[in-house]
Amino acid sequence: MTCVWFPNQNAMQLNVGVITISDRAAAREYEDLGGPALRDFAQKNGWLVLAECIVPDELARIQETIKSFAAQGCALILTTGGTGIAKRDVTPEAIRGIMRVELPGFGETMRAESMKITPNAILSRNMAAVVDNALVIALPGKPSGAVECLSFVLGAIPHAVKLVQELPTSC
Ligand code: MTE
Repeated sequence: MTCVWFPNQNAMQLNVGVITISDRAAAREYEDLGGPALRDFAQKNGWLVLAECIVPDELARIQETIKSFAAQGCALILTTGGTGIAKRDVTPEAIRGIMRVELPGFGETMRAESMKITPNAILSRNMAAVVDNALVIALPGKPSGAVECLSFVLGAIPHAVKLVQELPTSC
């Protein structure tokens, strides 16, 4: 497992963790492009990327990484990959195994908007959930698809993160 930590928590910024979920990227058979694409997107939004990790498509590894990112202060955890229908795609199952609640509107919106771009969007089981005090959003593995999907739900993220962090917020 390849993880990088940037231990500069900043109360003024949204602290984000990025997890690339891919057997081949974890084995360094190809370069991870999804994680850097999400990092760039996060930084352009003024968010602070606190940690990045590449993990294989293994349920327990995905779960322990999400839990550890949440425990280290990541209020928003973005995953890319493993949302499809290949035998090794287990990202939604991993998140559902540790979540408190799922937020179906995120998956519904990401798929509906993505269908306007590619019919293959119907193959993604994109989803979002609350795990401990973090909002976790599972995005597809293709870097452009991950960024597209995140942009479709961007407007709801600040309020959702405040709610899961139990910070004052109003609708
Ligand atoms: N959504 C958007 N917006 N753009 C895309 O290019 N790719 C689709 C889909 N969702 C895509 C997308 C494809 S080709 C697949 S197979 C699924 O996401 C699942 O991808 P994953 O298994 O890499 O997570």
